[in-house]
Amino acid sequence: MGQGRPLTPRYRAIVVGMGKRGMHHATAFAANPRFELAGISSRDQKRLDAAAVKLNEVKTLGDLKLSTDARALVAEVKPDVFCFCTPPNVRLSLIEIGSASGAKLIAFEKPVAMTSAEGMAIKRAIDTARVKAVVSHQHRYGEHYKKVKDIIASGAIGTVHLVYGTATGWAAHMLSHLVDYTMWFNDYGPAEWVMGQAAGRGKLTDSHAAPDYVAGVVHFSNGVRGIYDCGAGAPDVPEVQYWWRKCRIGAQGTDGYAEVHTGGGWRAVTGQGVQSGPGGMDYEHDMAPYVDQMADWLDDDAKPHPARFARAYQGLEIMSALYRSAIEGGQIGLPLTIGVDEIDGLRARVPDRKVLMTLTESAKEYKE
Ligand SMILES: NC(=O)c1ccc[n+]([C@@H]2O[C@H](COP(=O)([O-])OP(=O)(O)OC[C@H]3O[C@@H](n4cnc5c(N)ncnc54)[C@H](O)[C@@H]3O)[C@@H](O)[C@H]2O)c1
Repeated sequence: MGQGRPLTPRYRAIVVGMGKRGMHHATAFAANPRFELAGISSRDQKRLDAAAVKLNEVKTLGDLKLSTDARALVAEVKPDVFCFCTPPNVRLSLIEIGSASGAKLIAFEKPVAMTSAEGMAIKRAIDTARVKAVVSHQHRYGEHYKKVKDIIASGAIGTVHLVYGTATGWAAHMLSHLVDYTMWFNDYGPAEWVMGQAAGRGKLTDSHAAPDYVAGVVHFSNGVRGIYDCGAGAPDVPEVQYWWRKCRIGAQGTDGYAEVHTGGGWRAVTGQGVQSGPGGMDYEHDMAPYVDQMADWLDDDAKPHPARFARAYQGLEIMSALYRSAIEGGQIGLPLTIGVDEIDGLRARVPDRKVLMTLTESAKEYKE
């Protein structure tokens, strides 16, 4: 071995699911010198072949293994990182393949699970296998998100007493993002109880199943209040044009406030006056550090990934409790001790009335 820095290990990664997010992950692994993209899997051979061609444009991947069967690919490659990017109703079966594979890290997409019952089963599998896991709440790497976090952490808005998140997209797409970044602004302090309401049945049969609209409050044990407003009835974010990125995520403190708009910059009012700046959610920008910090955690247990499973699981508990409150009424204490199928419960309990929309342009999504 030569002098200077020790050789950086290259971790062998495979990615299962070659849709939009699978390609984002595979591209980021291929481009990162700390990883070797060793295999990709899709159930559809044509999609798999097309993905391999595209990925070879990022970098020549001479040894890239292709398989329509995730289990067979794992057996052949024996990856260090098992990554899957599938629709939200496909989680536990792939967690089980990843846990049994001997991989050191499993990377997967939000939301962690559709229900608390499934989330608890996923947690058990990850804990039992003692495998590291990360969940893709990667918007946090946006410069505008980081700026807002820096302002809050600097103390410029004083002591935080309120965090909030709104999005026009429905909960199965957007709520886990809102919850995760507001928990980040509150240093991931635990939540004590949750109370919520839900309206609109149209999206309860979508592949991203959720009520059309969910709103509620969270009491964090450090006294901070969380307010979430997600879906058809959420307020507009006029600073942002693109419907999916109309999200406002922020914190109020004793001396001011700071907030990020997912598709359009940030703003803060502090003792130093009004500040604002640019920024927009950008997959390419955000994926590179998200993937790079997986290598940091694999290198060193003392460098846990900012988007680690334990944090995403805290968010899943809050989401599930909002749903449960809408089903059962009243406040729901955390942590949850019993897993249930909240989506089934919502199908039984959300009133059969068309959701009332805030934005006329939302009618293209909330049709039923
Ligand atoms: N983090 C983010 O910013 C972000 C953005 C968009 C989507 N997402 C999430 O990413 C996930 C995937 O979304 P997408 O947009 O890539 O979807 P997609 O439809 O483009 O791709 C999903 C892929 O999964 C494959 N698949 C489906 N069922 C499978 C199974 N049983 N076994 C193996 N493969 C299977 C499909 O063939 C497809 O290739 C969702 O959970 C979504 O919510 C996250």
